[in-house]
Amino acid sequence: LAVNNYNEASRFGARDASLVFPKIKIPKQWNIKTYMAEQKARIEARLVQLPQQPARESQALRAFQYALRLPGKRFRPLLVLATADLYRKGGDAVLLDAAAAVECVHTASLIFDDLPCMDDGHLRRGQPTTHRIHGEHQAILAGMSLIAEANRLLSSAFKGRKTEIQQRLEALHLLNTSYSLAGLSGGQSEDLLDKQILDLEELESIHAKKTGSLFIACVEIAAVLCDARDQERGWLHDFAKNLGLAFQIQDDLLDLVESDTTGKDQGQDADKTTFANLIGSQDAIALYRELIAVALRNLEPFGESAFHLRALTEIIRERRF
Ligand code: IPE
Ligand code: IPE
Ligand code: MG
Ligand code: MG
Ligand code: MG
Repeated sequence: LAVNNYNEASRFGARDASLVFPKIKIPKQWNIKTYMAEQKARIEARLVQLPQQPARESQALRAFQYALRLPGKRFRPLLVLATADLYRKGGDAVLLDAAAAVECVHTASLIFDDLPCMDDGHLRRGQPTTHRIHGEHQAILAGMSLIAEANRLLSSAFKGRKTEIQQRLEALHLLNTSYSLAGLSGGQSEDLLDKQILDLEELESIHAKKTGSLFIACVEIAAVLCDARDQERGWLHDFAKNLGLAFQIQDDLLDLVESDTTGKDQGQDADKTTFANLIGSQDAIALYRELIAVALRNLEPFGESAFHLRALTEIIRERRF
């Protein structure tokens, strides 16, 4: 069975856990639902303030706000904040801006992904796609300006201490790399090629680029801004890589289901190679569950302190399809 070979531990890079991470105890009344609701409210309050620079009323501005305000799950910004919470910084304004920045890039990628020349999506987050309301030209401009906004968020309003400048530059570099041709854009490009993919490694590579890259950027940006040690960053990288891959496999599985829970068109991947049609739905489910289990193992060196990230991962694992 492909799925068995596929999960050799070496593949996911078990890391040396020689560093001891400072222990943060789980507060007595803490629960993930409340935590997510609170952080999501903060994220959305920030998103409605965007773009930061007052812009004249325009159709592109309306498209920008339309796309950003659609009810997304906000998993990526939640991942930024949950990572920051490892360092007790999940409540910091700088981290909130970093969280908003990744959501801007993600939202731009969805606008582009839905264009008629790409997936031709009609429904997104339960509403008509941005180009269907505002036109393709304005949707493209909204996508571009969302990416600009992400960069502005990461580069604005800092005090200018030398270490902070270095951290910000590194965070900017990570974010921009995540949607470069080595990341999301490259993955989307290969995803659009109308060809039959026959091996798992190639499919994994496309998924890793188009979806995994941004997940990795979420945890690494938070790590950099929280002054994490290199080894910790490595653990977080491996965690996000496995979680991102699991997330896209799950997204492909959700595409097969007759239901309106995803808020997007069903059957979009009918002519594509996905894990589900390459190895079958049952094995794809087993594989994504295994990847989530490995992702949780990647967090073990952090011990109890990673409770925010662990609980968020479990929420993603339990999404219904
Ligand atoms: C959809 O992402 C695109 C993928 C990479 C699978 P999400 O499922 O996170 O979409 P939203 O942000 O909640 O709409
Ligand atoms: C898109 O994957 C990943 C992106 C980088 C946007 P999909 O094409 O499967 O995403 P959905 O299903 O339209 O959200
Ligand atoms: Mg697509
Ligand atoms: Mg799509
Ligand atoms: Mg999909």
